[in-house]
Amino acid sequence: MKIIHSLGAMTAWSERLRREGVTIGCVPTMGALHDGHRALIRTARLRCDALVVSIFVNPTQFGPAEDLAKYPRPIGKDRELCREEGVDVCFEPSAAAMYPVGFQTVVTVPSIATRWEGEARPHHFAGVATVVTKLFGIVRPHLALFGQKDYQQAALVRQLAKDLSLGVEIVVRPTVREQDGLAMSSRNVYLSPDERIVAPTLYKSLQAGAEAIRNGTTDASAVQSAMAAVVRREPALTVDYLSVCEPLTLEPLSIVISKAVLLGAVRLGFIRLIDNLMVTMPAGRR
Ligand code: PAF
Repeated sequence: MKIIHSLGAMTAWSERLRREGVTIGCVPTMGALHDGHRALIRTARLRCDALVVSIFVNPTQFGPAEDLAKYPRPIGKDRELCREEGVDVCFEPSAAAMYPVGFQTVVTVPSIATRWEGEARPHHFAGVATVVTKLFGIVRPHLALFGQKDYQQAALVRQLAKDLSLGVEIVVRPTVREQDGLAMSSRNVYLSPDERIVAPTLYKSLQAGAEAIRNGTTDASAVQSAMAAVVRREPALTVDYLSVCEPLTLEPLSIVISKAVLLGAVRLGFIRLIDNLMVTMPAGRR
């Protein structure tokens, strides 16, 4: 496995393979890789001839009060996982190379980025959209994989790849969960043992919402109440949002007709947990 730090060397590697007709897959990450990333890497490995995993803790997607400085950076372990999974290149650029003095451009996807995570983290999605666009420009992949865990991020990346005709197919893979339902996340390492016990409640609340829909509840506020009732049982949790949305636009729904995505974010001590669940109303109930 090659480790490439230089932007130019990364592009040269990809361009050479593209000329030979090789298909290139890319899994963009901020490192601290877990089984969710492993699942993305495995899918990419099956679908592409050559595979790049980028590891870059992108400063522009962190707010001033967020965890940039203490974000986990177990680079040795990350490279090991990539080697195990047959990754061809770990692309590890520096922040100075990605954002040299004079860097100005910001990519925004206003309609998708404004709500939900965008409200809680105002500059986050501009940081994500800009770095992903830049990574695509450097790595030049045919295919890029993202986890459904970050549903809004995946929707935003799909939209920008389409709007800007980037020529990259965006593939979104299902969330990988711990046995008790907690969605895998690099930030789960911050949870104390007590918080870890409470953390799966968010997923349980989304399941309660999904069950209400499957049982015929169409009123989105009733679905929200079903979700909120589960979270309320855990006093350590504070709700940021529990919403019932249209799966593509992420606009809030008032009535569920056929499909919805349930999006949730809660605070647990200093940690924010996010999760989501797609739900389809059974045909007989529509
Ligand atoms: O999901 C992540 O790890 C990051 O937001 C991403 C897509 C790698 C951009 O920095």
